[in-house]
Amino acid sequence: MTRTKILTWKCIILGCYKSTTDPESRLPQPVLKQTPLLQPRVSISDVSDDPSSTLFADDLSNPLIGLNLHVFSLVELGIVTRNFSRSRLLGEGGFGPVFKGFVSDKLRPGLKAQPVAVKLLDLDGLQGHKEWLAEIIFLGQLRHPNLVKLIGYCCEDEQRLLVYEYMAGGSLENQLFRSYSTPLSWSKRMKIAIGAAKGLAFLHEADHKPVIIRDFKTSNILLESDHTAKLSDFGLAKDGPEGEDTHVTTRRIGTQGYADPEYIMTGCLTTKSDVYSFGVVLLELLTGKRCIDNSRPKREQNLVEWAKPRLKDPRKLDQIIDQMMEGQYSTRGARKAAALAYSCLSHNPKQRPRMSDAVVILEGLQDFNEGLVVRPFVYVAPNDEDSNSSIKTIADSPSSKQNILQEKNADPSFSDYVLTVISGISTTAPPIPR
Ligand SMILES: Nc1ncnc2c1ncn2[C@@H]1O[C@H](COP(=O)(O)OP(=O)(O)O)[C@@H](O)[C@H]1O
Ligand SMILES: [Mg+2]
Repeated sequence: MTRTKILTWKCIILGCYKSTTDPESRLPQPVLKQTPLLQPRVSISDVSDDPSSTLFADDLSNPLIGLNLHVFSLVELGIVTRNFSRSRLLGEGGFGPVFKGFVSDKLRPGLKAQPVAVKLLDLDGLQGHKEWLAEIIFLGQLRHPNLVKLIGYCCEDEQRLLVYEYMAGGSLENQLFRSYSTPLSWSKRMKIAIGAAKGLAFLHEADHKPVIIRDFKTSNILLESDHTAKLSDFGLAKDGPEGEDTHVTTRRIGTQGYADPEYIMTGCLTTKSDVYSFGVVLLELLTGKRCIDNSRPKREQNLVEWAKPRLKDPRKLDQIIDQMMEGQYSTRGARKAAALAYSCLSHNPKQRPRMSDAVVILEGLQDFNEGLVVRPFVYVAPNDEDSNSSIKTIADSPSSKQNILQEKNADPSFSDYVLTVISGISTTAPPIPR
């Protein structure tokens, strides 16, 4: 019989303040609960209000609970990050600042020497223990190549910290929008979209209780140096509906510009709310523009409102694609990606595709610019010393706007697929990425 544990919020909160050496306060193993068909997982919905149960923060790393995380002290993480030095600051979100550090293999048995990212709760901020615990419960159990790996945590008095694998490419937000970053090519953008889509498909559709990340956005997509994307920041994540349930009703939170308008209006949360946010990120990848930017002209400030009508008009699409790509993308590929973004941004959640459908579409688009034939062309360079011109032939010059591009191997089945997804009657059931 498959069984999972019931934890109590209260007991974990209490546990963080109690001495772990007090044997009196350790109660028997938590009660186990049945979850047929799905892989057992301690979830936020398993958390009960039973005040009689006590579970210590240290017990979160108990193999019985399956989290398999290292527990660090504040002093240890201070050493790892050179006392949380500003020079090591990687970024900052609603939870608090994130610092780069390095752990040695001598710190804990089984821990390999590696760079890490240490996230420190801002005690004056709006987030706290609940978000910290959500990260531990979700990321401590869910492992996938497109989810950032949580290595461990620290819980001392009110201090809450999280230790992750370090992602050398930083966040997608920084790579896409910071002026000092090298512009991302079409295939890198598609690689990132595929990785993020696979991460979401795993959360929504794999054989565990569905998880809704609820705050999917560019600053929560982290990149390896080869542009493999991993989802991070599960502080606002929520267990999705199960069985007969179509949605979960919950307080409305998220980030302006990314949050699903339907969920914000009704409070009904489904996995399709993440699909909407994915559509916003895909649109940002295609246009190179932030979803909300008050420095733009008034009618362009909200990217979705401005760009959505243009996504389905092939003549207008070229006007909105990121100029930083210097035309180095295939028009057919861009149209298919735009059609996918359009369907993800549908007002009716039922018309939005499943993330595994999105993965299949995107996988067909990544190499679209490699499928282009870049023809050699003749460039007549003026010769200062001589009035005669010298003639050079340039081929495969990816940055030149003058290259003549032509698609090859156009696959008509892709457009059919996009159409099926838009109309919401997808008949294909692609394998769930794991
Ligand atoms: N594992 C990591 N490796 C590299 N940079 C990271 C890592 N985790 C977070 N960051 C940086 O810190 C920022 C904030 O992290 P995030 O987990 O989103 O925190 P918050 O929960 O406060 O929003 C990210 O946008 C990114 O720039
Ligand atoms: Mg964040």
